[in-house]
Amino acid sequence: MRNLIDWDLLAEMSATPGFDQAEMWDAFARRYEGYGRLQSEATRLHVHALGLRTDDSLLDVGAGAGRLSLAAARHVKRVTALDVSGEMLAALRRNAEAAGIGNVHPLHLSWRDAHVGDNLPVHDVVVAARSPATFDLRKLDAAARRAVYIMLFAGPSLKEFHDALIAGIESPPPAARARLQPSGHVLIFNRLAAMGIEASVNYVPDGFSQWYPDQASAIADFEWLEIPAAQRDRFRSNLLQFLAPERGGLRLRLASRSVMLWWTKAAPSGQPPLPPRWQA
Ligand SMILES: C[S@@+](CC[C@H](N)C(=O)[O-])C[C@H]1O[C@@H](n2cnc3c(N)ncnc32)[C@H](O)[C@@H]1O
Repeated sequence: MRNLIDWDLLAEMSATPGFDQAEMWDAFARRYEGYGRLQSEATRLHVHALGLRTDDSLLDVGAGAGRLSLAAARHVKRVTALDVSGEMLAALRRNAEAAGIGNVHPLHLSWRDAHVGDNLPVHDVVVAARSPATFDLRKLDAAARRAVYIMLFAGPSLKEFHDALIAGIESPPPAARARLQPSGHVLIFNRLAAMGIEASVNYVPDGFSQWYPDQASAIADFEWLEIPAAQRDRFRSNLLQFLAPERGGLRLRLASRSVMLWWTKAAPSGQPPLPPRWQA
């Protein structure tokens, strides 16, 4: 049956060119790493949602500074952290070493140049979180033996948090997608459906959170933003909107949520698993 709507074309039209190139991500790596530290609460929930097994191999496509890869490492046998950005992977290596994690293997490669079964082995589970790698959904599917998970922000994103913190100080970095409807996950769901993949959709808590004893330590925790001295007052007022009193100190919080699209591969018999309502 032909599809009335070309979802792949719609996705291409709403994507920002250059978003899957290394330069922009290299330049943002230090900041990305900093924001990653503020997401550890939510990241734990995300890892839990991946249904990992101790003897699994996990492929993290567009792994960045290792937010998910490093948190998942203790739950699986081996993680391949694939990323086009050398700076992101350098941060990942540093963090893995500092945490004594030895089973995360960085793979410096563009998803465009990855060939499953050639320079990229099949892994038990594949995850692509906030990753431009969704331009090739077939490759994500081919790279997985058991399951694929795609995650996108469905509430305030890292970019929106960053834009609010640097408001009046710097001009914001470009957006991954023009703000078109339908939004990213709806496009991905429909592209998967057109490929014959019945994805499940879950919404999971996300966001940024950290407790500080006082305002000065909160500001100091953002030194990686490298705010010029002349702009510190503006930064303080930008940051204050995310701080609230808690336990004698201050809690930074930006609550958000993410959407997880996921599917499992065909059962070994060749029969795809039936949706739950048809199962005994
Ligand atoms: C928004 S970050 C997400 C990082 C991580 N998955 C997370 O959830 O924190 C996107 C990452 O995808 C990487 N990336 C962008 N285009 C890519 C490509 N063509 N191949 C591999 N990685 C890519 C970037 O370098 C960046 O590290």
